[in-house]
Order: sequence, then C-alpha cells, then structure tokens
Amino acid sequence: MRLWTVRRLHRTCKWQKSIELPKSCSDAGWKKVTTIEGLANGDNLHPMQEAFIKHDGFQCGYCTPGQIMSAVACVREGHAENEEDIRQYMSGNICRCGAYPNIVDAIIEVKKGGKI
Ligand code: FES
Repeated sequence: MRLWTVRRLHRTCKWQKSIELPKSCSDAGWKKVTTIEGLANGDNLHPMQEAFIKHDGFQCGYCTPGQIMSAVACVREGHAENEEDIRQYMSGNICRCGAYPNIVDAIIEVKKGGKI
C-alpha cells in the first residue's frame, strides 16, 4: 500500500504531526471512505451541513465540501474543545472568501449540540 505522508507543523509548540493518507480508495483497503455526498441522510442534511448554512460558513462554496468534511472530523476526533483548537485543526483548509469566523461558529454549534 502506497501512502501519502502529510506533516503539519504545530505553530506554538513546534512538534510535527504526521498522518498517512491512502492515495486512492483501493489503497484504503478495509477503511470506509465518506464524501460530502455521503453525509446527508436522504433529504436530511447532516448537522454540520445545517450549521454551515445557518452561520453562512461559505460564500462561493468552492472550499465548502472540504471544510465540512474536516469540520466533522474536527469534532469527532476531539479537536473542537475551543476556538483556538478548531482554528489549528482547520488550518489546512484554505478559504479564499475568508469565511473562517463563520465556519468556526458552525463547528462550535455542532460540538455543543452533540449530534455528531
Ligand atoms: S467559500 Fe469561497 S473559497 Fe471558501
């Protein structure tokens, strides 16, 4: 299995965090891959999708699928305890429209709601 290795430099304590990502779904082997299309349950949007709409967490929408998928992982992996942690976790997602404050608000709401 060939993997991409992603290293992120934590801005305050300077440790490097590495994660390994499969290059393709077939490389992922037994792991389940969920895309933005797989988050909703029929006509019912996922709570993170609802929160992005409620808080205007996007403008052009170009970055939105990636932002939402990362936001879900941010909460599920326990990195949404405070605004600084959320901003650090989400720092790999670039939004040219600058919707960051609203994205953080959406994540905080979903974290507080506990519906994820
Ligand atoms: S909403 Fe336009 S790039 Fe993020």
